[in-house]
Order: sequence, then C-alpha cells, then structure tokens
Amino acid sequence: MRKGTSMALVDPHSYADDTQPVTKHLRLHLAVDFERKRIDGRAVLELAAPAGGPMDLDTKGITISAVTASGGGEVLFDLGPEDPILGRRLRLKLPPGTKEVLLRYHTSPEAIGLQWLAPEQTEGKRHPFLFSQCQAIHARTMVPCQDTARFRVTYHAEVTVPAPLSAVMSAGPSGVIEGKGTRTFLFDMPQPIPTYLLALAVGELESRDLSPRARVWAEPATAEKAAWEFAGVEEMIVKAEGLFGPYDWDRYDMLVLPPSFPYGGMENPRMTFLTPTLLAGDRSLVDVVAHELAHSWTGNLVTNATSEHFWLNEGFTVWAERRILEAIHGEEAAVLGWAIGEKALAESIARFGEGSPLTKLRTHLQGVDPDDAFSSVPYEKGARLVVLLERTAGRAAWDAFLAEYMKRFRFQSITTEEFLAFLEEKLPGAAATVNADAWLHEPGLPANAPVFRSERAEALAALAAGWPNGVRPTSEQVGSWSASETLLYLQKLPRSLPAEECAALDAAFGLSGKGNYELLVEWLTIAAGSDYEPAFPKIREVLARVGRMKYLRPLYGALAATERTRSLAREIFAAASPTYHALSRRVVAGVIEKYPA
Ligand code: BES
Ligand code: ZN
Repeated sequence: MRKGTSMALVDPHSYADDTQPVTKHLRLHLAVDFERKRIDGRAVLELAAPAGGPMDLDTKGITISAVTASGGGEVLFDLGPEDPILGRRLRLKLPPGTKEVLLRYHTSPEAIGLQWLAPEQTEGKRHPFLFSQCQAIHARTMVPCQDTARFRVTYHAEVTVPAPLSAVMSAGPSGVIEGKGTRTFLFDMPQPIPTYLLALAVGELESRDLSPRARVWAEPATAEKAAWEFAGVEEMIVKAEGLFGPYDWDRYDMLVLPPSFPYGGMENPRMTFLTPTLLAGDRSLVDVVAHELAHSWTGNLVTNATSEHFWLNEGFTVWAERRILEAIHGEEAAVLGWAIGEKALAESIARFGEGSPLTKLRTHLQGVDPDDAFSSVPYEKGARLVVLLERTAGRAAWDAFLAEYMKRFRFQSITTEEFLAFLEEKLPGAAATVNADAWLHEPGLPANAPVFRSERAEALAALAAGWPNGVRPTSEQVGSWSASETLLYLQKLPRSLPAEECAALDAAFGLSGKGNYELLVEWLTIAAGSDYEPAFPKIREVLARVGRMKYLRPLYGALAATERTRSLAREIFAAASPTYHALSRRVVAGVIEKYPA
C-alpha cells in the first residue's frame, strides 16, 4: 500500500506526500451539532503555491459531500480503503493552477479526536460539552488535512455553537456573532502550527484573568477554584522566558476540562487544555502547567517531525519543566521531580519489556499506532539524555546551545538526526561523550544515566524501606511534608500491605481525603493491590469520574492483577466505560484483557 516510486511519504502516520501541493493556511467553518454528535464542516485549504495534480489528505471517519477548487469548479476525489491506524487517504485531483480547495464534510460520532459529553458528565450538569484531542494523529477525524507534524499551517476558524455555549480554540479569539439560538466564535491563528495542535472545546464556559496575557477558562462551577490554583502562571511565564527566550504566542490561556479528559494536559497553543484533577486546592500540581507552558518552546516552536522523534518534544519539555520548577522553587524541588519520575520510567520499561524497541528514544513506528507506543520513555528517558548533555557541556554552554537551537529551528519540525547534526556542529563531541547512540538506538536505560542526589529523597526512601520492619513516620513529620515528598515516600512503599497497615497509612496521611490526585491515586493503587475493602468506594468513585489515563492504568492494573478483585475491575469498567474517552477505554480494555476472565 505504501510502495511506489514517485511518492514521497514523509511520515509513517500520514498519507501526506511532500512532492505534492502543501497546505499553508486553513479556513474552517465548523457547525457543532450536539444532537447528532457531529461537526458539519467547510474547510478551505489554501496552498503554498498554485498547483495541480494529485494531493493526498488524511481522513478518518470523515464523510465528504463536495470538493470544489478556487473558481468553483468541481474537484474529483477518491477515498482509499480504511487503514485501522491511518484512516482513509483522500486523493484530490486538483486542476492546474489551483490556489485553494474547499471541502464540505461532516465528522463521525465515533471520531476519536472528539469527545461528546452529555450534560451529566459536566460539572454544571445542564449543558453538553465537546472537546478535541488531536495529538498525535487525530486531527484527521475533525478536519480533512495533511495530518503530519512535518507541515505547518496557520488558520482562521468560525465555529457555530448553540447558545449559551462558548467555543475556545488553539488560536486568538477575534469576535463573536450572536445568531438566533446560536453563537459563532471567530478565531485566528497567525503562527504556523502542525495539525496535531488544532484544538477546539465547546461548553458552558467562564474565564478569569490571571495576568494581562493569561486567563483560565472553566465551567462556571470551577472557574474560581481554577483561578486560585493557577494564579502563579504569570510568574512561570516570566521564569520560562528568562530560561528559553521571549514567549512567542501572545497569550497563554488555559482551559480546565471535564474529568474525562484523557491526559493531564495538552499544550494546545494559546489554550493549554488541563484535567480538572489538577485542582488540588493547594497549588501542588502546577508542575503540569509548567510542562505545558514549556512546550511553547520545546514542542510548539521546535516540533518533532513525526512520532518517531517524539522524545525531542517530550524529553526536552520534561527537562524544561524541571528547569522552570528549579527557578521558582529551588534545586531540591527539581531533584524531587526527577526522583518521582523514576518510577514511571521503570514501569514503562517493564510494561514493554527491557529489550523492547519501544524503549528506544528514536523509534520506528511503521504500522504501530502512536497511542500504543505512548509511554514515559520519551519523557523520562529523553529528559535524562538532555540532562546528560547539559552536564557534559556545562550549564552555561548548554543554555547557549539551546537558545541557538530554538532560533535555528523555530516553527520547524525536526528529526533526531537533524538534532544530532546540529548538536555536533555547536557542541562537537558531546554526543559521543554521553554515548547518545546507545540512548537513542538501544532499548532500556543506559548505565551512564544521570544520578540525581538529594538528601531529602534518600531520607524518604530509607524511611519507606523501613516500613516492613515497622518503621513509621510520626504524624508531626508527615504534617510538614510537601506533596512531592509524600508522593515519593508512597512510591517507595510495598505495593501490597496487610489491612491494618493500610488503615494506619491512610490515617497517618489522611490519604483518602486528598485533593491531590497524584497522592490519592498512589494510595488507592496500594489499597487496590492490597485488596483493602474500606478503600473500594473511593476507588469506584475515582474510576467512575476521572478519565485521565495516567490514573486509570495503575488502578485498573492493581485491581485486575489479583483474581479476587478482577471481577470488580470488570464491573467498574463496564459501568464507567461509556463515559470514558475512546483512548481511555482502549487503555483500560488492554489492561484488563491481559488477565484471564
Ligand atoms: N503532549 C502531551 C500529551 C499527549 C502526548 C497527548 C501524546 C497525546 C499524545 C502533554 O504535553 C503531556 O505530556 N502531558 C502530561 C503532563 C505531564 C508530563 C506533566 C500528562 O498528560 O500527563
Ligand atoms: Zn508534554
């Protein structure tokens, strides 16, 4: 299917062909239909230069009703067979000299890039909600497009929604037109973005200003809480600018989504999407905001060319996130972040297997769904390679390198090989010194992985190691611990404890009442692995409400691993799964199906 002599496919996850015309700008008219769970769309693709001949687009679940060229003439098109990962290739046959092409289409209710929520799934319970999640390859379920990070587009959008709902996008707002029972929101995105950064959300939304260039959007019931939680965002932006150069996207706004949002955060430019589980009530989870903000440089300015180079996005961003935390909270806080990240990395490596090619940084993903390749490896292993380079070059030289890197590749998409060539040019020998080849092309974690020393982290690990011998922290001690310290301690405890010890643990830390989901879920994972019944109602409650995959995986995993609680896992999943995002549903099904019924 992917063979041919004249074709030049540039991304294993896209039908886009760089020998064909390339889209430069999108004009979207989207009508959001909650009854039919579909978007009726008109998409105008403006080409980089007048051109003719075949132009291949990505589509998935998209129904095309008409395609016309600049002058209004009909354009012949042909939809290829459905590939389970890629969807269907839409080949347009453009007449010579085509400047733009208009596609009329509608989406499928099953579009994986869109989740349609019933009113009961929102905080307010009165209005439906819609949000998109396009990374890595789901923009094609919302708009027919060249859905590869290799290409970038600017866009204009007009989104019609039922009143009194509001729409937000990964773009600048440029007006609202009130209609009869409808509202049309206008958007302009002047900076070029890869299509995975297209984003839309529609719901009953309110906003609160946090600074002249930052505001948070949320459902009315959560807006105040969100404004309080993220009040420190301007300080973060200022610190990040100090580290990585001017913030280039004008505004930094955030949207707090309903709890089914499958990720912690998504770096949609000008409108970071966030899970409501960050609203801990004590600002203890703002590292996720630091992370999404950091993508404004490492990711949205310099993007990975394809998912095979995803570590360039996430590895650099985890590294940048911890530099921001260090600048705000000091070195100790950053080191705790590194220590906490170790567990996720080890679990991802164990899940795939030590020798798995998916534990390499530079991956080969022909025929592999990027959502299946997703793990903490590109994040935590990737970030550790960046630290190794930073330590080898010395911080001043590394920061100077990074500034040049950002300048050289801004608004571009690059491969690992291009990164290495630039590194060699600017910091000759650094890659060889750290044995970058092993990091990139060999599975597992290399022996020269950086060590993060912290007396605090070591003391907490030592204390946790004493648990089986009856060593317990006193309640005074516990009371003074930060959320990160508590999390690190919990991470180091045994995964299965006798009931009395579960009770003692819960009581000592007040774990079941935690608003911090990292702590709550770490505890509930231990409780599930311990078959500790008093925690089951809380486990049910969390699994029924929250769709964040990071939390579903360990909780269902712990329940499903032992025979006694396996049927409970299945029962909870059967009830909750209709409310989950399709991505979350797939992850949980995979976790449960690993075990016999
Ligand atoms: N871009 C990712 C989320 C993502 C990755 C969505 C791949 C779809 C495909 C985002 O920046 C991210 O990494 N989120 C993390 C935050 C954490 C590392 C602080 C998350 O959701 O947990
Ligand atoms: Zn990220």
